[in-house]
Amino acid sequence: MKIIFFTHSTFVLKIHDKYLLIDPFFSGNPVFDNKNFLKCIDDLLIRVDYILLTHAHYDHVCDVELFSQKFHGVLVISNYEISNYFEKKGIKTYGMNYGSFISFPFGKLKYVWANHSSVFNDGTYGGNAGGFLLHTNEGNLYISGDTSLMSEMNLIPIFGKLKLSVLPIGGRYTMDIEEAILASDFLKCKKILGVHYNTFEEIRINKDEAKKKFYEKGKELILLEMGESICI
Ligand code: NI
Ligand code: MN
Repeated sequence: MKIIFFTHSTFVLKIHDKYLLIDPFFSGNPVFDNKNFLKCIDDLLIRVDYILLTHAHYDHVCDVELFSQKFHGVLVISNYEISNYFEKKGIKTYGMNYGSFISFPFGKLKYVWANHSSVFNDGTYGGNAGGFLLHTNEGNLYISGDTSLMSEMNLIPIFGKLKLSVLPIGGRYTMDIEEAILASDFLKCKKILGVHYNTFEEIRINKDEAKKKFYEKGKELILLEMGESICI
């Protein structure tokens, strides 16, 4: 499984020959100047088969329509309310809610609870916020989405050992570094990909300090640059 990180909570999972884009946030993203996100997309995003959306906040869904138009046949996977919202715009969707694994060509996917809110910029209700637990024959991955630390994270490793967890670390709207370290205890997962930091002033962190704090607890915090990828 390959993970290509972009910025904020946006990344691509390549599992076998399938490309999954998570929480696309390019066009409204302050990290990109003068619309150079289009070049970034052209250089790095060669294909998208699925778009996974954790919740309806703008910094997670703002480019769903752009990618649905750019890549023919994209399937948007999210909770029932978010799926309905995009289905009405003519996009192919797969809605789900908490409670079961669902099989897709890339693996088994479970929509899981997150402790957060979920509303579209136009005021439309976005269902309950969530994350994804993904089991594949290349390993298991937990994507928490925007959330605080929560005791429900203790349930995640019951379903199977995790290779990696993708957790927000920027604070203010989500977990900070301290909570993410505790989350990794709950998840029984020592390898964390940190997301949702440094995109806005209010979620700024010191990357070296953050890595050191994880390291001191016997854990690894991976922080990727834009376009950088890892294989797990
Ligand atoms: Ni959010
Ligand atoms: Mn967010």
